[in-house]
Amino acid sequence: MRQKPRKIARYVSLAALAGLLALAGGRRASAQSATLQHGSGAAAAASSNQYVGNATCAMCHQELASQMADNPHHKITMLEGHAGHTCESCHGPGRAHVDGGGDITKIRHFDVLTPSQIDATCLSCHAQTHPNFMRSPHARAGVSCLSCHSIHKAEPETTLLVATQPLLCYRCHSDIKPSFAMPFHHRVNEGLMQCTDCHDVHGTFQANNLRNTVDQNMVCVKCHIDVRGPFVYEHAPVKAEGCMGCHTPHGSVNARLLNMPNINVLCNQCHSQVAADTVHGMNAGSSDSIPCTTCHTYIHGSNMDEAFLR
Ligand code: HEC
Ligand code: HEC
Ligand code: HEC
Ligand code: HEC
Ligand code: HEC
Ligand code: HEC
Ligand code: HEC
Ligand code: HEC
Ligand code: HEC
Ligand code: HEC
Repeated sequence: MRQKPRKIARYVSLAALAGLLALAGGRRASAQSATLQHGSGAAAAASSNQYVGNATCAMCHQELASQMADNPHHKITMLEGHAGHTCESCHGPGRAHVDGGGDITKIRHFDVLTPSQIDATCLSCHAQTHPNFMRSPHARAGVSCLSCHSIHKAEPETTLLVATQPLLCYRCHSDIKPSFAMPFHHRVNEGLMQCTDCHDVHGTFQANNLRNTVDQNMVCVKCHIDVRGPFVYEHAPVKAEGCMGCHTPHGSVNARLLNMPNINVLCNQCHSQVAADTVHGMNAGSSDSIPCTTCHTYIHGSNMDEAFLR
């Protein structure tokens, strides 16, 4: 145990404490917040007189309590018809802990909980915004909310994250880091975009935690609107295979993030017959030396030309 026992007297006189405890008895109104559902958490199950209220916690945990004013979680007080117990919503009812003079075995502290117990505590309020978390690759691998978030020790200016992106992600995904150092890459390390522009780490219906959209290409075309279409003349693989049919998402040694070093080889995976027998062989130059896209410029689709020449 790393805790050093402390004297209650250091925080508050016992007489004052007794008075406050009487005043701060748990009163729980029934009204629910419209945006948050605070449902099945352990806190809700406990009987109301086990709660002491924030003011009591603040007497001994002054620093944490005053920091709470800058934390989005101060809004918990607005739950339960403005009777929400901020500290005890997460730490569970605190009367036994307080009566025991700060007995740490009588209060929920998170370092002894399993990942799924932690997740359940947080999801008692956040299930609506993150409904897919429990079946996400992160939850299934035992990566809990607190692997990425901290309530009391978050980095400033983040959504309560323990580190800023992309460092947070590289802590565990060091294998991804080299891609973003390749000659051609999405400028994530430079801060121009974030891993979470494409991934939702809280889980989605797509493979690889990709952001949940109807059309897989939406992950990309929300920024690259010019290749989005629909076009009069679609290039079939753009819709059929998706962007990953020809590109890599993170970084590449190939220009334009292509997944092959040579454009013609890329095209000829599907078009080798054409290149051998048609206009290409007899016209200006051989298609082996000129990239196909020198002529087939509008490779993602065109409204003018069925061969994507313009
Ligand atoms: C009478 C003073 C007192 C009051 C009131 C009090 N605590 Fe504590 N609490 C302590 C002491 C003393 C410790 C021992 C750990 C330490 O801070 O060194 C402690 C420890 C804790 C811990 C465990 C810390 C750890 O390191 O794991 C949590 C969590 C906690 N308190 C939450 C609360 C909450 C929530 C409330 C209000 C319901 C509350 N406390 C009210 C005195 C108090
Ligand atoms: C939204 C949930 C939540 C709320 C609200 C909350 N805590 Fe915590 N508390 C945690 C978590 C999670 C930890 C574990 C450390 C971390 O992740 O920051 C923790 C850790 C602690 C600790 C251990 C010391 C430490 O910093 O590690 C104390 C003491 C504590 N909280 C007291 C309080 C008090 C007092 C309040 C109300 C002012 C409060 N907490 C409100 C979730 C919460
Ligand atoms: C009792 C309900 C409740 C519980 C339990 C709870 N939260 Fe929250 N959380 C809130 C409220 C309310 C907000 C503020 C929402 C808003 O501003 O719209 C919030 C906001 C957040 C934010 C957003 C911060 C931001 O800057 O936008 C994060 C991250 C978060 N909570 C993580 C957690 C984690 C992790 C846990 C578990 C340790 C947890 N919450 C437990 C109610 C709760
Ligand atoms: C793998 C890291 C990771 C895990 C695990 C994780 N988060 Fe997050 N969370 C983030 C990042 C990064 C952001 C900011 C970017 C974003 O919105 O996706 C964020 C944003 C949030 C937000 C604010 C924005 C929003 O989408 O509402 C809330 C609330 C939140 N997380 C709650 C949780 C809860 C609750 C859990 C556990 C059930 C959890 N997170 C697990 C990394 C994580
Ligand atoms: C605490 C360690 C940890 C952190 C931090 C973390 N991850 Fe993960 N992540 C994992 C583990 C473990 C898995 C599941 C095993 C695997 O597939 O590698 C996973 C899975 C994933 C997957 C799915 C991979 C697949 O094959 O389906 C993606 C995408 C991902 N993480 C992105 C992120 C992003 C983006 C961040 C930063 C916001 C992040 N992770 C932060 C540990 C972490
Ligand atoms: C431009 C969008 C985009 C960005 C930004 C992005 N990813 Fe991805 N990521 C993807 C796509 C798309 C896949 C799926 C690749 C596939 O299907 O071959 C993927 C796959 C993954 C995977 C699982 C497959 C693997 O290669 O191991 C992990 C883990 C991952 N990304 C982590 C990250 C991390 C960490 C960051 C930030 C440092 C990040 N991604 C930034 C789009 C992106
Ligand atoms: C958040 C916006 C955003 C998302 C999402 C995004 N990109 Fe990008 N992409 C950019 C920006 C900005 C650049 C310019 C890069 C630079 O100059 O650093 C770029 C560059 C590129 C390039 C190279 C262009 C060139 O001229 O060399 C390709 C190819 C590309 N993205 C494909 C994709 C694919 C495929 C996806 C989906 C997996 C995707 N992008 C998702 C913003 C985005
Ligand atoms: C059939 C292969 C193929 C598919 C599928 C494909 N691309 Fe491309 N893309 C290319 C080629 C080849 C280039 C290089 C063109 C050049 O060098 O002139 C390119 C270039 C780009 C560029 C650089 C700017 C530009 O317009 O030339 C972006 C951005 C891009 N692609 C995004 C995407 C996105 C987003 C998707 C999915 C909607 C996608 N690509 C699907 C082959 C493809
Ligand atoms: C994954 C397979 C695939 C790749 C890679 C691919 N294509 Fe296609 N392409 C197709 C298919 C399928 C069609 C539609 C053929 C049809 O309708 O008969 C098509 C159609 C075309 C057409 C129009 C054909 C017509 O009949 O009008 C042109 C031109 C074309 N592709 C050029 C390219 C070029 C240039 C590249 C390389 C940048 C490329 N394709 C890469 C599969 C691919
Ligand atoms: C010098 C310009 C040029 C280059 C380089 C070029 N093409 Fe073409 N391509 C054309 C023209 C012109 C047409 C005929 C368009 C028409 O019939 O309207 C064509 C037609 C096509 C067609 C339509 C099918 C057909 O038989 O008419 C496909 C597929 C195609 N090219 C693929 C490729 C591929 C793959 C490459 C690279 C290996 C390539 N092209 C390189 C100019 C070029």
